[in-house]
Amino acid sequence: MSIHSEIKKVTTSSFKKMKATGEKISMLTAYDYTIAKLADEAGLDAILVGDSAANVMAGYETTLPITLDQMIYHAQCVSRGIKRAMLIVDLPFGTYQSDPMQAYRSAVRIMKETGAAAIKMEGGIEIKDSIEAIVKAGIPVMGHLGLTPQSIHHFGSFKLRAKENEEADKLIADAKLLEDIGCFSVTLEKIPALLAEKVTKELQIATIGIGAGNLTDGQVLVIHDILGLNKNFKPKFARKYINLHEQIVEVVSQYIKDVKSQEFPNKDESF
Ligand code: KIV
Repeated sequence: MSIHSEIKKVTTSSFKKMKATGEKISMLTAYDYTIAKLADEAGLDAILVGDSAANVMAGYETTLPITLDQMIYHAQCVSRGIKRAMLIVDLPFGTYQSDPMQAYRSAVRIMKETGAAAIKMEGGIEIKDSIEAIVKAGIPVMGHLGLTPQSIHHFGSFKLRAKENEEADKLIADAKLLEDIGCFSVTLEKIPALLAEKVTKELQIATIGIGAGNLTDGQVLVIHDILGLNKNFKPKFARKYINLHEQIVEVVSQYIKDVKSQEFPNKDESF
């Protein structure tokens, strides 16, 4: 029997057990009640209220504009939809990077106001003090290394990270640091599969990959990408399981036709 089927509520201990047994951890983003409820019913292990909400919910080009209040709103909606999955919420840009006390306060707001079980933060040694302040308060932290979209203006592009030795060595050192200072897990985004495998083998905590090969301890994707909701966004690492963009446009077109032709509502749909 897999750990998956035994777990009533996924927690940081479940992440530990799944890493130990080799059972892969499934994680997706969600930003609202309805989608979160569906993902939870399907048996997803963890739901991330990612700051990618800035892109897919609000239409911004980067994740930078989303605020703590907006993240809290999305997380509250998601929280009401889930029973089993672990709820993890991103700390948004500008709420934790340079001031441990601000980081602590931002994390506490998320935990108090949303029912989250953990928060996620982007960066390594640069944000060590902020992570420590949060972990000390008993709040589980998931790290995030590799392509960290909150630093997109620093990187200058969404290209693969840590291809060269120097950046790869820093990433390994950062991953070990995150483990040492008490993170329960770390997301590895858009890095070579071999590097992700090495980090995964060297850490006791679970690694969750996105564009990092299949040898991490789990995978995360943005749910809009697997549902094919955006026809113009086709990253190599995201598998499109269904083309909902096409289907939704078809359905809405049909509805428009039916309204215009007075085919809708028909007798059965009227009082
Ligand atoms: O914001 C986000 O959606 C993320 C991912 C890892 C997908 O951080």
